[in-house]
Amino acid sequence: MSKLVEKGIKRIEWASKDMKVLQLIKKHFEKRKPLKRVRIGMCMHLTTETANLALTLKAGGAEVYLTASNPLTIQDDVVAALNHHYGIETYGYRGEDTEEYYKNIKKVLDHKLDVVIDDGADLIAELHKNYIEKAKNLAGALEETTTGVIRLRAMAKEGKLLFPVIAVNDAYTKHMFDNRYGTGQSTIDGILRATNKLLAGTNFVVIGYGWCGKGIAMRARGLGAKVIVCEVDAIKALEAKMEGYDVMPLKEAAKIGDIFVTVTGNKNVIDEEHIDLMKDGAILANSGHFNVEINLSYLEEIAEMKETPRENVTSYHLKDGRVINVLGEGRLVNLVAAEGHPSSVMDMSFANQALSVEYLINNKGALKPDVYKVPDFIDYEVAKIKLETMGVEIDELTEEQREYLNSWEFGTE
Ligand code: ADE
Repeated sequence: MSKLVEKGIKRIEWASKDMKVLQLIKKHFEKRKPLKRVRIGMCMHLTTETANLALTLKAGGAEVYLTASNPLTIQDDVVAALNHHYGIETYGYRGEDTEEYYKNIKKVLDHKLDVVIDDGADLIAELHKNYIEKAKNLAGALEETTTGVIRLRAMAKEGKLLFPVIAVNDAYTKHMFDNRYGTGQSTIDGILRATNKLLAGTNFVVIGYGWCGKGIAMRARGLGAKVIVCEVDAIKALEAKMEGYDVMPLKEAAKIGDIFVTVTGNKNVIDEEHIDLMKDGAILANSGHFNVEINLSYLEEIAEMKETPRENVTSYHLKDGRVINVLGEGRLVNLVAAEGHPSSVMDMSFANQALSVEYLINNKGALKPDVYKVPDFIDYEVAKIKLETMGVEIDELTEEQREYLNSWEFGTE
């Protein structure tokens, strides 16, 4: 066995110990085989946690094919272990170019498939562009992330979506935990591993105050940074202000920020007008799904040279003498410079995935092409089991309280 395969197996097993909900589902799947002969194509970050999801689906009887949802978030030891130890065909290597990335998506789509699991909707988009017949025969799909769900809702709105999709991202036990605590911790982890900077005392600018932004702001503050939030949504901006952060337009923050993190899901969020105002030595990172949030073409244009002083840091030496540092080529810093969200939080996201695949198969043909919520019974089941695995007990409503909550007659007494 090669050293790479050995390393992958050890890391996948290590992650599994923190994925107790998924392991329980795997045990049930092994007994019941609810996914017997179901063919599943997955396009996800190729991490130890994804490997554990793939193994759970396989334990349920599924045939699984895997490719990456980002060329820079591929863990080569995981790919090696899946291919050469666990018998799951997995395509891709860290740093593959865009052409190779799409070739590998096509390799998954060349198999007969019943269900696809996507992270960012690149595979689903490819199905709709070049594999229409295949798309029409699918039981459905699952989407892991906010950006993918936004793309799929746009497809559904245009009447283009060809099969039902379950928005796993929107489950409470996914976005409230994975997006907040997962992105919060792993983004800081990525920045620290890439730069080895002290955050205490820095001006740390979080651009976008959704669930991911809330997590990053909270953890940066915890490490002593002075957090500034930039938002376009008035309600979210108000929430950030009342949480005690400074809130201002990016044009103001650009002048004083030391570290900038984008988490908006939008394009050119850090643009020319902001880069022009930044201090020498500013650090730019992105934790949104695609590498479009920082205008890198502008940096390329105004730089007279660039260098890589450390792994995952590109320093742009500008003609005006300033140096601007970009982490992880503007791709997801938490997965490029660190290992993504910790296993314990991916446990809940991937438990939702596994149970939602079973739900899709059980409801094959009954759901029209549209974007659906994860059923509440799955969401609550995941929360309940997670609490149990953490050794936490909670109270239950009494019969009298249940009745009271279901009545309208009782008022002021
Ligand atoms: N997305 C964020 N973190 C992840 C991880 N550890 N594995 C798979 N997808 C992720």
